[in-house]
Amino acid sequence: MKQLISLIALIAITINLSAQKARNKYVVETKNNVMVFTGTIDGKFNFQYYGQKVNDVTQIVKSGIGLNEDAYPAFGLECTEEKALQVTHSDGNLSVDLYLKAVNVTKVDDNVTLTTVSLYDNKYPFNVTLFYKAFYKEDVIEAWTEITHQENLPVMLYKFASFAMPIRSFNAWVTHFHGNWSDEMGMVEEKLERGMQVIKNKEGVRNTQFDNPSIMISLDGKASENQGEVIAGTLVWTGNYRIKLDGNFKNQTNLIAGMNEDASNYLLEKNEVFKTPSFVLTYSNAGKGQASRNIIRWGRNYQIVDGNKERLIILNSWEGVYFDTEEKVMLEMINDIADMGGELFVMDDGWFANKYPRKNETTGLGDWDVNKQKLPNGLKPLIDRAKEKNIKFGIWLEPEMVNVKSDLFDKHPDWVVSQPNRTTILGRGGSQMTLDLANPKVQDHVYNIIHNLLVENQGIAYIKWDANHFISNVGSIALAANKQSHFYIEYQRGLHKVLERIRFTHPDLIMQACASGGGRATYDFMKYFHEFWGSDNTDALSRIFIQWGTSYFYPAINIASHVSKSPNHQTGRSYPHKFKFDVAMTGRLGIEMQPKDMTPNEYEFTKVGIQNYKRIRPVIQFGDLYRIVSPYDNFGMSALMYVSESKDKAVFFGFNLDKNLTYNFPPMKLNGLDSEKKYKITEINKEIQGTEKKKVKSRVSSDNGIFTGEYLSKIGIQINLREAYQSVVIEINEVKL
Ligand code: GLA
Repeated sequence: MKQLISLIALIAITINLSAQKARNKYVVETKNNVMVFTGTIDGKFNFQYYGQKVNDVTQIVKSGIGLNEDAYPAFGLECTEEKALQVTHSDGNLSVDLYLKAVNVTKVDDNVTLTTVSLYDNKYPFNVTLFYKAFYKEDVIEAWTEITHQENLPVMLYKFASFAMPIRSFNAWVTHFHGNWSDEMGMVEEKLERGMQVIKNKEGVRNTQFDNPSIMISLDGKASENQGEVIAGTLVWTGNYRIKLDGNFKNQTNLIAGMNEDASNYLLEKNEVFKTPSFVLTYSNAGKGQASRNIIRWGRNYQIVDGNKERLIILNSWEGVYFDTEEKVMLEMINDIADMGGELFVMDDGWFANKYPRKNETTGLGDWDVNKQKLPNGLKPLIDRAKEKNIKFGIWLEPEMVNVKSDLFDKHPDWVVSQPNRTTILGRGGSQMTLDLANPKVQDHVYNIIHNLLVENQGIAYIKWDANHFISNVGSIALAANKQSHFYIEYQRGLHKVLERIRFTHPDLIMQACASGGGRATYDFMKYFHEFWGSDNTDALSRIFIQWGTSYFYPAINIASHVSKSPNHQTGRSYPHKFKFDVAMTGRLGIEMQPKDMTPNEYEFTKVGIQNYKRIRPVIQFGDLYRIVSPYDNFGMSALMYVSESKDKAVFFGFNLDKNLTYNFPPMKLNGLDSEKKYKITEINKEIQGTEKKKVKSRVSSDNGIFTGEYLSKIGIQINLREAYQSVVIEINEVKL
């Protein structure tokens, strides 16, 4: 017995020693954070830690606090837990067992480092490569995975996540952004319990209408804006997705994020490389605000088209005239937006189709020829007028869609997403279908439509690219019978090919992504698009909530935010013009109404407001966002501010949200300023009353005062918004005395 015990002890020591001896540590490092892995060549590659940096990272490994879980857990040996990868090999074997082959670190530039981890199965020619790209200054890591094999027959992939990571906490909460048409990006915060929480989409086309593929996990209770540990992540993908948070008895939640594998089994051919979308994440020990600012900095610097270029002030025709895009009316709108100081006019839906003219939502999609009745002289007069007025011209398209009543469908009924022997489910107007972008012929057609329109009408500077249908009747004639389940992925690949070509041939084209409002708010799409339409709901109060949620992951340059008519067309509610304008100013400002419907005062206010926006635009569009009072806290108000990177300028916005109550708000403590600097605070966008343009009393007690950053952040400013839907905009500029 004694001998047996010493033998066990000896074995234990040997295992321990060899583990200690051979386990290398691999660190993916950013300015304030580290992600730590351990591994041995021909041994396992394990995730240990993600969070704030310490001077000596070896302590994380030495101390044994690391999580020591497979960095990319695969199904088959351990079969009880949720996995990142699940396959069936060509011989029917259901398991994958991954070992480390090599870790390579490449310095891409002064700020970016790429760590590549090659893993192999020791019994099958099956390989997985994990990529971790670290953006040092932004404190962001972008992670993705490639899967390939050299088996003689195809391998079926059932699960193929982008990224997996265990998180340990007693009291973790997840914030996600749930919504609906007209009510996008509503913030929901839930405690992570044992069992699985899944955030997902299966719409095929507009994947952010119901839940954005973005989450914030706070590790120490509900997340707060400025305190606490938060991990934020977003999946760079516009197709179906799943973000799983699988909580278990170890006080551990396994985060697994990637494409939605549902109905998407993927038959991987020999040597084919399956590349997943990336998952972009950051860690903050200063609350959600910092996590949000990190992701947004990364977005502007590395992902969004022209991420550091100013966005123009737009008039969009939709809510002003809907389908009535007659030449005379369009010309008047161009004149008006130019007169108000705007910079771009967009002619929305209604301008196209002749065989089945686009009079309403039931006809014409797919036929992108200018409607001869509404625009007998084509687009030229509009483009010319815009040029003459020194503004840009843009146009609405829904390139992926077709109506039953269209010349395109008459000619190519087999180009729509449909199944043999089944009735196709129709969308908007009881008549809309999705074009089959898994089919290369359809990809070429869609590309050519846009390309030709731009070439034949020199001077179209902007496209609003809409997509108002989900995918039904999944399948494609372009895919083999055993690959029909690739459809969701192939649709996206086809769409991406079209977008790549357009960006390549038309690099200066400005593009807005729209999908029944905010259905395509993803970092995937922001590679091609400058912005997205935040929501079809233009009600200013609704927008305060929608834009609040959106602002956690996307900068103001992305969020198209327009002033519309009262009563609002979606909600029937009315607000003062100033309130609507001030709300729109917190994003990429635009107008979504017929300027002729404005009163003279509103028109005048708009002119002054546009001038103000131009002046403060760099701060709003490129500054850091600090949220001061959340509309979700039910205090009857909402406040936020943008601060320039060098902290010499800031803009504060405050809104009274409550219809029924009159409030005295406590002083607003500002955030993000430099406590050493002195600032002058000036209220702008003051209401204009009466024809004599009398200005109302300031709503800031200390208007025009000069204060230190320290005072403004510790004690604050008093704003007086005593009535419902009053608002205030304050310009804050450094003064050097
Ligand atoms: C969608 C968009 C709107 C508008 C209409 C036009 O609903 O979200 O902004 O462009 O289509 O039909």
